[in-house]
Amino acid sequence: MTPKADTSVHDPIIDVRGLTKTYASGFQALKTIDLQIRRGEIFALLGPNGAGKTTLISIICGIVNASAGSVSADGHDIVRDYRAARMKIGLVPQELSTDAFESVWATMRFSRGLFGKPRDDAYLEKVLRDLSLWDKKDNKIMTLSGGMKRRVLIAKALAHEPSILFLDEPTAGVDVELRHDMWEMVRRLRENGTTVILTTHYIEEAEDMAHRIGVINKGELILVEDKATLMRKLGKKQLTLQLQAPLERIPEGLSSYPLELTGDGATLVYTFDAQAEETGIAALLRRLHDQGIDFKDLHSSESSLEEIFVSLVHRGREARA
Ligand SMILES: Nc1ncnc2c1ncn2[C@@H]1O[C@H](COP(=O)(O)OP(=O)(O)OP(=O)(O)O)[C@@H](O)[C@H]1O
Ligand SMILES: [Mg+2]
Repeated sequence: MTPKADTSVHDPIIDVRGLTKTYASGFQALKTIDLQIRRGEIFALLGPNGAGKTTLISIICGIVNASAGSVSADGHDIVRDYRAARMKIGLVPQELSTDAFESVWATMRFSRGLFGKPRDDAYLEKVLRDLSLWDKKDNKIMTLSGGMKRRVLIAKALAHEPSILFLDEPTAGVDVELRHDMWEMVRRLRENGTTVILTTHYIEEAEDMAHRIGVINKGELILVEDKATLMRKLGKKQLTLQLQAPLERIPEGLSSYPLELTGDGATLVYTFDAQAEETGIAALLRRLHDQGIDFKDLHSSESSLEEIFVSLVHRGREARA
């Protein structure tokens, strides 16, 4: 799939229009959300605690009722055509709640049966093997560790072979190695044509995996963008120079450059726009040379998605204040 800069989507697999949610308490958790998910993409929904991620996912999955607006899943309206829509969707919920006394295998079989799918033990076995749960298939869920329980939730969500998978904080409380295994599995699912929508607080995961990123804050979708475009647009680059001799202040001749002196004057940091054609580095280095400022080391860095995310949410807060 070639990433496009615009956010419009033809033939979206999920189409959310004018969606709002006010809980019975009177709290407005979602304010007019419009969102289209592309067929076959991995979409990461980022946002601070309480932003409305779980609310949005719960509405799409038919667990929470919307106050206004509409959602369709693979062409099926989630209210008028509930069963068909739900059949397309697998949900790995944020909260752990499993049938503690059931075995892993029985839970999966039952879940598949709920959707009226014919028995297919080979498929269920493959899912369990992919999730490194095959040797636990006869264990009661209550006897598994937290990370294993989370994997059981994924297995359960996949039991009816959904074409859309929602993962709400799937790797919270999962150890690093297993987290990487899980992302491998998500990639394989996607290669097999499954559309994946995930929320995560591990932003490097979104950076690693997602094709597109949506940022939600206080019930508003403040941005939806191709990941690469987002990082190019909002990313800043920095050049850090370790000086031979510390400076007391930035010399007059360099005052036109966005420079910062840190580390007791021994480090000079130059920030430039990652999008700009001309970085200005060559000219800066010439100026330094002319001023007799020598450096012993230099390195450049780009802002991470995490920094971009924090600044976006922060900006949103300032705009409201
Ligand atoms: N059943 C409910 N009744 C009233 N308010 C609710 C209910 N469920 C959620 N909320 C509120 O709606 C807002 C959004 O909650 P939601 O669970 O969607 O956030 P989230 O983005 O998933 O957060 P987190 O990152 O912590 O999982 C929060 O302020 C929450 O308190
Ligand atoms: Mg949540």
